Amino acid sequence: MEIVSTCSEMRKLVLDWRRNSNFSICLVPTMGCFHEGHLSLMRTAREKADRMVVSLYVNPTQFSPGEDLEQYPRNMRKDIHLAENEGVHCLFTPDSSEMYPDGFQTWVEVTKLSKGLCGKSRQDHFRGVATIVAKLFNIVQPDVAVFGQKDYQQLQIIRRMVEDLNISVEIVGYPIIREKDGLAMSSRNTYLSQEERKSAVCLWHAINRAHEMVAAGMDSCSELANHLREYIKTYPATRIDYIFIGDPDTLEKKETIEARTLLAMAVWVGKTRLIDNTILMGTSQN
Ligand code: PAF
Repeated sequence: MEIVSTCSEMRKLVLDWRRNSNFSICLVPTMGCFHEGHLSLMRTAREKADRMVVSLYVNPTQFSPGEDLEQYPRNMRKDIHLAENEGVHCLFTPDSSEMYPDGFQTWVEVTKLSKGLCGKSRQDHFRGVATIVAKLFNIVQPDVAVFGQKDYQQLQIIRRMVEDLNISVEIVGYPIIREKDGLAMSSRNTYLSQEERKSAVCLWHAINRAHEMVAAGMDSCSELANHLREYIKTYPATRIDYIFIGDPDTLEKKETIEARTLLAMAVWVGKTRLIDNTILMGTSQN
């Protein structure tokens, strides 16, 4: 596995791969501290193209003021080992002087999709995500890129950006990988205390409840959201940021749970903000 930390080396490597061997390239953008979720993205990427690039960069512009940029878990040595085991061909590990050199002032903003859900409480978060992902696409020029569906809004924003900016890359979304008790895997789970870890499963239990209620005929988005709100509150140390039930493509709220309705949630457990989502299959024809 090659470890590359400058944009020019990265460009040269992919150019060589393409020119000399006509290799196709798959990119897995990450912020490191790999867990089983990341490793599953890498396994998918390996099947999608001849060469796999994994980027590892904790992107400061997607952290709002007061968020956990400094604390964000980092473990480069372990990540290198894990990436090597997954057959990654190149680990791209730029630093901020490489990604945001002096004078940087160009941003990519996916306006409407970035407004609601996580965008409400995480100021400029999606502007930072869209910008860094667009830069990575320009540097690596992948044929395919793989993202986790846990960050559902992020995935929709990236799909929109690719469409709107005519970026020639296939976006693949990979299902959420969960711990045994259902908690969605996330680098931020390491922040949870033992007691908070017990409460963290509330998102998964709420998802299961939602599926059960919809199967039993519940078709009102607001009634379901209220029910889930009351349910989550029964778990100690939880504070709901949002419960969204609406259109999975436009991310607009709906009144009725129709076939393919997105349930997405963000819940604080202690000082850790957790997100999760699912697609509800309603039966209402409205
Ligand atoms: O999902 C993430 O880990 C990040 O938001 C991403 C896509 C790597 C951009 O920094």
